[in-house]
Amino acid sequence: MEYFRVEGGRPLEGTVRVQGAKNSALPLLAATLLARGETVLRNCPELTDVAAALDILACLGCRAGREGDTVRVDTSTLSGCVIPDGLMGRMRASVLFLGALLARIGEAHTGWPGGCALGARPIDLHLGAFRTLGALVLDRGSLLSCESAGLRGRMLCLPFPSVGATENAMLCACGARGVTVIRNAAREPEIVDLQNFLRSMGAEVHGAGSGRILIRGGKPLHPTDYTVMPDRIAAATFLCAVASAGGEGELTGVCSRDLIPVLASLETAGCAISKEADRLVIRVKRPLRGIGRLTTGPWPAFPTDAQPLLAAALAGGEGTTEIVETVFERRFRYAGGLRAMGADLRVAGDTAYLSGRPLRGAEVKAADLRGGAALTIAALGAEGESRIGGLDHIDRGYRGLEKDLSALGASIRRIRSTSGTKSSDT
Ligand code: EPZ
Repeated sequence: MEYFRVEGGRPLEGTVRVQGAKNSALPLLAATLLARGETVLRNCPELTDVAAALDILACLGCRAGREGDTVRVDTSTLSGCVIPDGLMGRMRASVLFLGALLARIGEAHTGWPGGCALGARPIDLHLGAFRTLGALVLDRGSLLSCESAGLRGRMLCLPFPSVGATENAMLCACGARGVTVIRNAAREPEIVDLQNFLRSMGAEVHGAGSGRILIRGGKPLHPTDYTVMPDRIAAATFLCAVASAGGEGELTGVCSRDLIPVLASLETAGCAISKEADRLVIRVKRPLRGIGRLTTGPWPAFPTDAQPLLAAALAGGEGTTEIVETVFERRFRYAGGLRAMGADLRVAGDTAYLSGRPLRGAEVKAADLRGGAALTIAALGAEGESRIGGLDHIDRGYRGLEKDLSALGASIRRIRSTSGTKSSDT
């Protein structure tokens, strides 16, 4: 059993290099299946979710290996199209292998995807896209079967700009003869990174980031050598850590453009931020001030993944903030942990009502990935010692969060122990 021990209440000072993006590396690893041969992915973060994707590739017969931040995937030995429950259940992004397998070999048989329990999280839009492109999709209870004798390009319109459904439709459309147009597509920066990756394999893809994506499919693709974009949510985590504890932090290897909604909210809360294309410096004098109403949504709105992070920083400030979560039904599971630290936080339906006040250290446990990062952020601003358990959630999305926060000057250590920490699920 591991937990973080954090000594809070000290201003931070330091520099951290931002990791490659989990939410881009995962669709890119699935996309390696689209071309026969060895693809090289650079700046690919060492995370448990990435390890799960590499295990899926190995289970399909591919050879995958890592040297530092570089991952090599050789798909010339692809031999299977079955992904067992155990592997599918380890994360949500496993569903992206269905679109890639359908495009490459016209068949995929899998269990159902897992991932953070942020709400219902159905995959109806993914399956709807496969059907529109001509696949036969059978829900056999614990097994999902997708087959196609020949995918065809089509017009498809998503009722909601789902990130995963857009990515799966793009992957599947690469194997469909003719033109596919995805309307009301997700516009997140990770969608643009996927388009750029597919183009570097020789695919004809246009419009990512605009909400209307056009793919001319059925062309043979080739392996590539590609660098994964920086992780905007990891960057938001480090910015909120400095915002919570006060002090000064420098982020390098970051893409400032991808952080516009987050930077705007932090500046409203009183943070001074100097921006260059790939470098950010944040200076914070506590206490932060409340920012009024914040509503999450699909890009370019405020990202739902950064909502717990900002809430944790604001909890130790002053003034009020109302957070309306519009993407996931259960994204306030960190609230109980913040209250254990003394936060004035009330959740009613899709809204959290926060009134900033000084926090004190406590023993808490992560219930999901970003909730765990939020509790760590709050602990940095809280007086005294905190213990944060549930690190298996945190390790899914951060390559050693304690190391990166230590680089920013935080007093945080990963402790191995036989006894657990208290649950903080609301
Ligand atoms: C991606 O999840 C990210 N994960 C999430 O990050 C992120 O929170 C989310 O996009 C929104 O930005 C990865 O990229 C691996 P969606 P995804 O499909 O693709 C509903 C993190 O912390 N929906 O855009 O699962 C769904 O239930 C993770 O790094 C359907 O109803 O998100 C949700 O309410 C957490 N039917 C909403 O759409 C579908 O078929 C948004 O989901 C698909 C989605």
